[in-house]
Amino acid sequence: MTRKILMHVGPETLDYDVLLAGVKGDVGFTSKEFVDAMSYSLKFLRKLMGADESYQPFIIPGGGTSAMESVTSLLKRGDKVLVVTNGVFGNRWLDIFSRYPLEVKAIRAKAGYYVKPEEVEEEVKKGIYTMLTLTHVETSTGVREPVKEVIDRVRDYVDLIVVDGVSSVGAEEVKAKDWKVDVYLTASQKAIGAPPGAGLLVLSQKALKMLSDDSVAGYYLNLKNWIGVMQAMESGKASYFSTPPVHLIFMIKRAFEMIEAEGLENRIKRHELVASAIRRGIEAMGLEIVAKTPEAYSNTVTGVMLKRANPAEVLSLSISEGIEFAPGVHPDLAGKYFRIGHMGWVNMNDVISAIAVLERVLKRLGEPIKLGEGVRAVQELLAS
Ligand SMILES: Cc1ncc(COP(=O)(O)O)c(C=O)c1O
Repeated sequence: MTRKILMHVGPETLDYDVLLAGVKGDVGFTSKEFVDAMSYSLKFLRKLMGADESYQPFIIPGGGTSAMESVTSLLKRGDKVLVVTNGVFGNRWLDIFSRYPLEVKAIRAKAGYYVKPEEVEEEVKKGIYTMLTLTHVETSTGVREPVKEVIDRVRDYVDLIVVDGVSSVGAEEVKAKDWKVDVYLTASQKAIGAPPGAGLLVLSQKALKMLSDDSVAGYYLNLKNWIGVMQAMESGKASYFSTPPVHLIFMIKRAFEMIEAEGLENRIKRHELVASAIRRGIEAMGLEIVAKTPEAYSNTVTGVMLKRANPAEVLSLSISEGIEFAPGVHPDLAGKYFRIGHMGWVNMNDVISAIAVLERVLKRLGEPIKLGEGVRAVQELLAS
């Protein structure tokens, strides 16, 4: 079978219009066509992040991790950083910061849970932290952190608040300005619906003032080296620090145009509906979701616990049935779950297909599920 639906956690099945936008053989990074694409994309990034003109947008090569590591451009030797982590991608902040001369403390949640705002408040009130990092949606479990609630409690006690929105931007409500976030970041391959290869972020004025030659950042991911390029490109002038991912930028631009046409609110609603339909189907089959409480459910990722079937077999059989899901990566739940990614251009027909494939695959693998009940539940939701 050659045709399949990609419901991994990014990249996901791409819209052909997005892909075709990158089919260009003769465009350089100083061409007007490229500079215009970059300018439009940087401007639209502010809207996507709920930022205003006071925020500086960046689109840099790499992905979520390069965007994450680039925030070291705001830190100096010995600065204290508090990392709120709900799983593997929250822990990535610890891995990154451990490579730099910083003091780092973590507050952790168990798999399936999120760190409660009051716990963050208690720690941050010590008043010693330069930076707090939050992960909006923890992709390893599908758990959403109530970032606005956390920030409301801690804003006055920490200099910089950084939110990893890799699995949220484009699918969840994101309000960088209203929530007073200093850095909101994402990656091209997630809910934005473009191929992998770029990290996208916006920085507040306060964050911009922290960029300095004394930061602990290295060379390539030092935002001080990129800011001039971003400002020049946005104003329509070609500029160079390092070669940008030219073709990817055309695809990001097309994805942004399509998001603009759909309307950000409609897009978030579509993701909400898709996510609730997925959960309805999974629960009606008789399976449990990794996120432990409804307010922790995300619009983009659903972790599914298995009682008997081996997740690796579920994934490989599902691929042979035409759908690719994602493996579970949280070490505490190893061998017990897998993940469904539902972001980007995902629609209701994908949901029906996903639940139908899972039902027959799980039945064959001996998982005690109610065959047909998942699809019925989704249909009932859609027909109502
Ligand atoms: C929440 C989150 N943060 C960061 C990353 C890292 O992004 P990348 O793989 O593009 O480096 C991911 C990747 O899945 C993620 O889900």
